[in-house]
Amino acid sequence: MSQYHLSIYRHDPSVEGSGRYVDYTLSTGARLKVLDALDAVSKEYDTGIAYRASCLMGRCGSCAVMLNGKPVLACQAQVEPGDSKIEPLRGYPVVRDLLVDRTPHERILTSVRAHLDASGFARPAAFTYGKDLYSLTLCTECLVCQASCPARNEVPADFAGPAVMTQLARYARDPRDQGSRPVTALMEGLHSCTSCMTCSEVCPKGIDVFGQAILALRKGAANTRLPSPKVQDDMTEMFRQTRLALPKSGPLLVEELDNAGCAHGDVAVFLGCMFQVRHKEDGRALLDVLRNRGYSPVVPKGLVCCGGPLLWTGHEEEARQAAVENVKILNETGASKVITACAGCGLAWNREYPRLLEGTGLSPRFQVLDVSRVLAAGKRPEEGAVVASGTGRCAYFLPCHIRSQGAADDARRAAEMAIASSGGTYVAVEFPECCGGMSASADPQLASRLAAKVIAAAERDAIDTIVTSCPFCVENLARGARRARSKVRITHLLGISK
Ligand code: SF4
Ligand code: SF4
Ligand code: FES
Repeated sequence: MSQYHLSIYRHDPSVEGSGRYVDYTLSTGARLKVLDALDAVSKEYDTGIAYRASCLMGRCGSCAVMLNGKPVLACQAQVEPGDSKIEPLRGYPVVRDLLVDRTPHERILTSVRAHLDASGFARPAAFTYGKDLYSLTLCTECLVCQASCPARNEVPADFAGPAVMTQLARYARDPRDQGSRPVTALMEGLHSCTSCMTCSEVCPKGIDVFGQAILALRKGAANTRLPSPKVQDDMTEMFRQTRLALPKSGPLLVEELDNAGCAHGDVAVFLGCMFQVRHKEDGRALLDVLRNRGYSPVVPKGLVCCGGPLLWTGHEEEARQAAVENVKILNETGASKVITACAGCGLAWNREYPRLLEGTGLSPRFQVLDVSRVLAAGKRPEEGAVVASGTGRCAYFLPCHIRSQGAADDARRAAEMAIASSGGTYVAVEFPECCGGMSASADPQLASRLAAKVIAAAERDAIDTIVTSCPFCVENLARGARRARSKVRITHLLGISK
């Protein structure tokens, strides 16, 4: 028999201020889904909890709730024995207990005309559903992605959210539709999306919401020359001229290194724009970390921006050019592993390159790994030397793009090891999931608000140092700390690794 201790949110609209958590215990040998648990509590305690469900098979999208802070379908998600918290879906008004009012969502769908706009269309001679259109039609409007979206949750008035973008992308892909879907998406805050990709990870229907909806609409907007944030246009123009996504302020790191450009080796390094231009110290630390573990890393010359920032703002052709140039150079090194320390670069390589390289006849003959994988699993240097002082109480902030690479466990382990070797104390802090770093150029206000939340969480736990593994997070959190006049120090994992 297993014990399930459930803390369930109860709210009676007829009683002012009645919202509270009520604890229920179930003892059963059966495995429970959230819906089973709610049914069992209703039966055993005769409590009349209000919740929604219909199909019981993940098809109707009506049963979404929060389980331990994550949005899930109650008919699909398993409850583990022990303590669990069940709450109404985040971001919508509560009607009663676990029932939320979906009207705000329905209103937006009406206002964006989320239906086939076929006024005056001529039926295409051969109309077939492509893979992406078919996938987008699977959306059940369960709102799980909405509840998980940091941008939408922070300022719902500015960003309609991923479920709305899914509907717009669906009609944008339908050859019968006459609507200007990318224009509508822009008006609904398309560029406020932080590119965290959480929506793709949580969608119960397996829709790659970020790739198939957000990116498709951004690409549509870029191709039709609709206005996009100026910084993004500047970045793309800069790439066309310099092959980097950041302005150069002096020599690149690769131009400063003595042994850069050596041709062959088993391990190569992909520095990316941030370590080439703005975070050179961390770039040098990456090379030291690898050498301390017995590698002789090759640092090829001629590598360009990974293309991620270009692709994620809708500039697919430039991103493809970047992928082709980088793969050609790194294939020539003969390396079997390429190490990066930028979460965004790693994600671009692992998530986007396979698609970008389709039809080019090129494929990488190596694996791209985040440095945290090496730090967590590779050979270790001698213990004992303290590499940084004054790190104090340290917490690890997990970048969205490390999580999306499936490297979260290694990254946490690497951070714990690095913190220990820095003489600091590791503290587990429950941070908000996204710091907004990737939206800093398109929506600085949103980025600032999200960073402020991370800093506030660190302050609450009296953290001295936030360790993270993405230079975009480092920069945005450092801005957040400065604005909040906080003494919390922000460092890349490499800043305290040896
Ligand atoms: S995109 Fe997925 S998570 Fe979002 S509403 Fe549709 S089915 Fe639900
Ligand atoms: S990528 Fe992140 S911010 Fe963008 S729509 Fe998805 S969940 Fe929201
Ligand atoms: S009850 Fe229909 S999706 Fe869960």
